[in-house]
Amino acid sequence: MNKIIVTGCKGQLGIAINKLYEGNREIELVNTDVEELDITDIGKVLAFVREVKPYAIINCAAHTNVNACEKDVDNAYRINAIGPRNLSIAAAETGAKLMQVSTDYVFAGNGDRPYTEFDATSPLGVYGGSKLAGENFVRDFAKNYFIVRTAWLYGEGKNFVKTMLRLSETHDKVRVVKDQMGTPTSADELAKAIAYLLPTDNYGIFHGTCEGDCSWADFTKEIFRLAGRKTVVEAITTQEYEKDNPASAPRPAYSVLDNYMLRLTTDFKFADWHDAIAAYLKND
Ligand SMILES: NC(=O)c1ccc[n+]([C@@H]2O[C@H](COP(=O)([O-])OP(=O)(O)OC[C@H]3O[C@@H](n4cnc5c(N)ncnc54)[C@H](OP(=O)(O)O)[C@@H]3O)[C@@H](O)[C@H]2O)c1
Repeated sequence: MNKIIVTGCKGQLGIAINKLYEGNREIELVNTDVEELDITDIGKVLAFVREVKPYAIINCAAHTNVNACEKDVDNAYRINAIGPRNLSIAAAETGAKLMQVSTDYVFAGNGDRPYTEFDATSPLGVYGGSKLAGENFVRDFAKNYFIVRTAWLYGEGKNFVKTMLRLSETHDKVRVVKDQMGTPTSADELAKAIAYLLPTDNYGIFHGTCEGDCSWADFTKEIFRLAGRKTVVEAITTQEYEKDNPASAPRPAYSVLDNYMLRLTTDFKFADWHDAIAAYLKND
């Protein structure tokens, strides 16, 4: 049986990967989170990967709190950059494939058309900067790797959808930004793309988000509509939001990703974001 090491298995993507491979007789997942395998520790990573001898490593571990990363810079770089470096070195040594997950926040978001994998990166904050450093380490040290950039991820765990639903229980109105555009992506959809790519030799960088785009305000309206909530969404500008939340990290205004490499090299298609959020709320 082929073994796949999953790091950060307790996070949103880790849980979705586990759901997807459940009952699969050809794949054995070796699940780890920070207690079993702290990816920032090169010695532990090398020893663990040498012992397991996996066919692949799916790195679901990350420091994903965008605001906290601005203050917690060293930890952001340890987890989001040194972590994937360590996994890359171990993967290259043992012949394992590496699946690294990255983000739309590697882009500045000052354009007006979706980014392809061939566009130049230019992160605005520490989270995006540390994730880009992680991508670069993977490119430097891993041999057989996939880097899948995703965005606005929601699954089991803490996420924007859960926050908005919780707020709607106590608020008649929520203020949400209307001038940051992106694509909400369900962790289940991303897990399917990962499982599609992993057995192939179709290596490289991929954009992997649901289809379509919207603002955070539009997304919230759709969540409330589907969940039957009466809470009103007041669409505000980023400037207004930052006045109320001065500790907020800078975020790209337009970070819509075009899944160009998937389209050019595979027949894999993500669901439209409307369908994905509807499926998520139905199963929740
Ligand atoms: N969430 C988003 O909106 C979003 C958007 C774009 C891209 N992404 C990327 O998608 C991937 C999956 O994100 P996610 O939302 O599933 O993340 P998540 O829910 O925050 O899960 C990350 C997991 O990694 C664990 N972890 C933290 N430090 C670790 C370490 N040193 N060693 C091992 N595990 C560690 C976390 O544990 P603790 O909870 O104890 O820290 C958590 O269980 C990440 O690469 C992320 O950067 C996410």
